[in-house]
Amino acid sequence: MTALGKLFRTTAFKITVVYLCLSAIGAGLVLGRVGWNVKQLIDDQTAQTVNADITGLAEQYEAGNINQLVQAIQRRIRQPGADLYLLTTHAGEPIVGNIVSLPPGVLNRPGLVETDYQRSGETAAKHRALARIFALQGGFRLLVGHDIEESERLRHILAGALATSLIWLVIIGTIGGLWAARRVLHRVDKINDQAQGIVTGGLSGRLPLAGTDDELDRLVRNLNAMLDRISLLMVGLKEVSDNIAHDLRTPLTRLRSQAEQALHSAKTVDDYRAALEKVIEESDSLIRVFNALLMIARAEAGSGFDGMVDFDAASVAHDVADLYEPLAEDRGMELSLDVEPGLVLHGSRELVGQALANLVDNALKYGMPAANDDGKLPHVASLILATKRQGDFIEISVADRGPGIAHEDRMRVQDRFVRLENSRSLPGSGLGLALAAAVARLHNGKLLVEDNEPGLRVTLVLPAAARTPPLLAPAMTTKETGAAA
Ligand SMILES: Nc1ncnc2c1ncn2[C@@H]1O[C@H](COP(=O)(O)OP(=O)(O)OP(=O)(O)O)[C@@H](O)[C@H]1O
Ligand SMILES: [Mg+2]
Repeated sequence: MTALGKLFRTTAFKITVVYLCLSAIGAGLVLGRVGWNVKQLIDDQTAQTVNADITGLAEQYEAGNINQLVQAIQRRIRQPGADLYLLTTHAGEPIVGNIVSLPPGVLNRPGLVETDYQRSGETAAKHRALARIFALQGGFRLLVGHDIEESERLRHILAGALATSLIWLVIIGTIGGLWAARRVLHRVDKINDQAQGIVTGGLSGRLPLAGTDDELDRLVRNLNAMLDRISLLMVGLKEVSDNIAHDLRTPLTRLRSQAEQALHSAKTVDDYRAALEKVIEESDSLIRVFNALLMIARAEAGSGFDGMVDFDAASVAHDVADLYEPLAEDRGMELSLDVEPGLVLHGSRELVGQALANLVDNALKYGMPAANDDGKLPHVASLILATKRQGDFIEISVADRGPGIAHEDRMRVQDRFVRLENSRSLPGSGLGLALAAAVARLHNGKLLVEDNEPGLRVTLVLPAAARTPPLLAPAMTTKETGAAA
């Protein structure tokens, strides 16, 4: 398509053309109306003058005779700037007057007429007059008229002005339209070029902003925000695949070498059984990692939103506590609940439950307090699962009295596959906190990893549901004691 063709097809140009047509119609209507009104006014005044004149003359004729009328007309003709007069016989023979030529038949139409005429003593072309023809007694015809050349000229001037203004309107409008279209097209072309670059190059490019804060800038800003989000997701995806490649290779290699070793060195059925059990154990841990990664991916993609419901934070806390009570008991830890009832969250109950379970699992795994100098554990190794309201947010926290996490590691542990040095001896794949953080982000909340002085407190901060239903239970803090109580 040629550059001009492209210009004509722009929305800006089409809008200008429509606007131009409407303006031209508007201007035409206004000027036409003004011209018509001016002509009407002049014609009315002329008709009044002619009528008064003719009535005066007719009265003279009624009062006297034809000679008196002829004299009166002659007197008027002699005055400078005289109007037009013609008195004829019933046969149309001129008796007196200052008109030498009239179109045929004009005198036979009594009343007001607009006609061409030629004044006596003038050789110039015909003029135009508004005249009244009056039939007198005795068959005489009297014409009194007024030259309307002035009014005709005015009408022509107005028509000319109308035509000129319309032409200028079209010229200026077309130039303006092309200019506006070119400006818009120029910016759209720049955006298009950049977009092409992003398609062929990479997601690091961004669309150019003109800094005018108009609708195009707003569109570009939103598209750039969309690109930011896509880049972020792509980086996340790349990280996950890198992590999977890196972290799953070791257990898979281990799995393979165990099976291979069994094949070469196992001799008895018991040897084979032992090897198979190891393989199953290894496979289970791989399945767990896959499940955790899948859940994180689901949370980050926002697919947990399919099952978004209103639910009570306390009920989730109770469920998780019930699940972990036996384990806490085994480890000699006291699991306490400190929940406020009636705190309603809106979100995925399954994902919030899983995130909370991960935090409790960590507290049980890593939250054991260090032994005293005499080698004994403090008599109660406690862990508290609490829910409370903080403004528009609901906080669900798990606090333990273990060694905690050094300040500089508190952000890092929320990344996938990060495990701290001193916990490597314990089973785990470094995905628990990453999932909890992803769930918090999915719900527009955050995960806080803080010092419990001593120990660690990890808190899921989630926005409360928009409308909290009236409390079913009295709004007081309930304290429940877990298995070890
Ligand atoms: N309560 C805690 N006290 C001390 N350190 C902790 C605590 N919770 C987590 N950590 C540290 O943070 C690391 C990451 O925790 P995360 O839950 O993400 O992974 P994991 O527990 O190692 O494995 P997974 O949860 O996938 O089985 C842990 O390896 C541990 O070093
Ligand atoms: Mg964990």
